[in-house]
Amino acid sequence: MSATTYPNYSPGLEGVIGGITTISEIDSDRSSLVYRGIDVHDLAEKGSFEETAYLLIYSKLPNRAELENFREVLGKEREVPEQIYTVMKQLPKQTHPMDMLRTAYSALAPFDPDYAEPATNHDANVRKAVRIIAKASTLVANGHRIREGKDPIKPNPDLSIAGNFLYLLHGGQVADDFTTLVMDASLTLYAEHGYNASTFACRVTVATLSDLYSGVVSGIGTLKGPLHGGANEEAMYMLQEIGSPANAEAWIRDALANKKKIMGFGHREYKKGDSRAMFLTKVAKEIGARKGNTTWGEIADTLERVMLEEKGLYPNVDFPAAYAYFLLGIPIDLYTPIFVVARTTGWTAHAIEQLDNNRLIRPKCIYEGPQNQPFIPIEER
Ligand SMILES: CC(C)(COP(=O)(O)OP(=O)(O)OC[C@H]1O[C@@H](n2cnc3c(N)ncnc32)[C@H](O)[C@@H]1OP(=O)(O)O)[C@@H](O)C(=O)NCCC(=O)NCCS
Repeated sequence: MSATTYPNYSPGLEGVIGGITTISEIDSDRSSLVYRGIDVHDLAEKGSFEETAYLLIYSKLPNRAELENFREVLGKEREVPEQIYTVMKQLPKQTHPMDMLRTAYSALAPFDPDYAEPATNHDANVRKAVRIIAKASTLVANGHRIREGKDPIKPNPDLSIAGNFLYLLHGGQVADDFTTLVMDASLTLYAEHGYNASTFACRVTVATLSDLYSGVVSGIGTLKGPLHGGANEEAMYMLQEIGSPANAEAWIRDALANKKKIMGFGHREYKKGDSRAMFLTKVAKEIGARKGNTTWGEIADTLERVMLEEKGLYPNVDFPAAYAYFLLGIPIDLYTPIFVVARTTGWTAHAIEQLDNNRLIRPKCIYEGPQNQPFIPIEER
């Protein structure tokens, strides 16, 4: 039977309205994205990731005193219990950082001082959200150190989230302003995106009256896949495989002829382009120019032209993010974990919104299996 037999069924839930939110709005026709009414470009250009996180969690931009206090709390909550590092160290060497991160958040839950609070305690959920957001950059960077056989180092409470991530990644060295600024803006662009797969998974989890950490663990597991957040890593591996601008056109035409999915292109919501990608492409090109390496930008231009000509598809945010991060010297398998650092804000904002006005999320499915089968005793099977 085909899907067209069922008028109320939309494969992949495409176009289905799954809920009401006040957190963000995607306008597919205008390729725009706003967080609580504010254009994401304004936040990325004029604000900081901390202001974005505050906006998502507390529903308004902070004033100076509120921001100062928020930064202080985030700085204090940045430390990770030693026991979590012990858990992370037990994982096999080949563990992907996303799996390490998922495990770390799972193990962190009972360490939260509000662990015993009921799932619908709004204030406790906000406190948990802040702790979850605060620890992400430390977990990703120190997780990277652990798998390199190095000891975790103490996070720096005086730096921004972007700054702390780079500081730990570079073994306790503060990054330059430009690198920190680019990282910060990319976190803002990645922070929130409506009912995307990982956020929806997070909402489904907490809607059973489970807790915020379980929601985040669901989110990380869902984000990992290459059709979602994992695309930024896959896009960079693809750019590396292409290797030079001279190879780009033949490579992409061959890939399309072989019906390959090109990672970092296409989007369920944006059919006329992803504005985050437009913004980050400019940033990635600027990094390339500053570093004297325009190779990736040139390959990207060819891929974008051919994808539009042949498939009518535009790049999504993961495409420029891939070579922007590469040019900043970030290990490729940390790209999706960086997405987690950003998205802990959107996930927890959605989890709080869900729990503030909760109803179990439980859609229907259509049964197409066999009917009226006899039970055959085991010795006759
Ligand atoms: C994002 C994505 C999962 C959206 O999926 P979707 O809304 O279910 O769209 P579909 O996968 O059904 O794609 C619709 C058509 O466009 C094609 N298409 C979509 N994205 C494509 C891509 N990146 N490369 C090649 N073809 C693509 C599909 O093959 C399909 O063609 P068909 O109708 O001839 O079979 C999809 O575009 C994709 O897989 N992109 C690559 C992964 C990626 O970058 N993910 C990050 C998203 S932010």
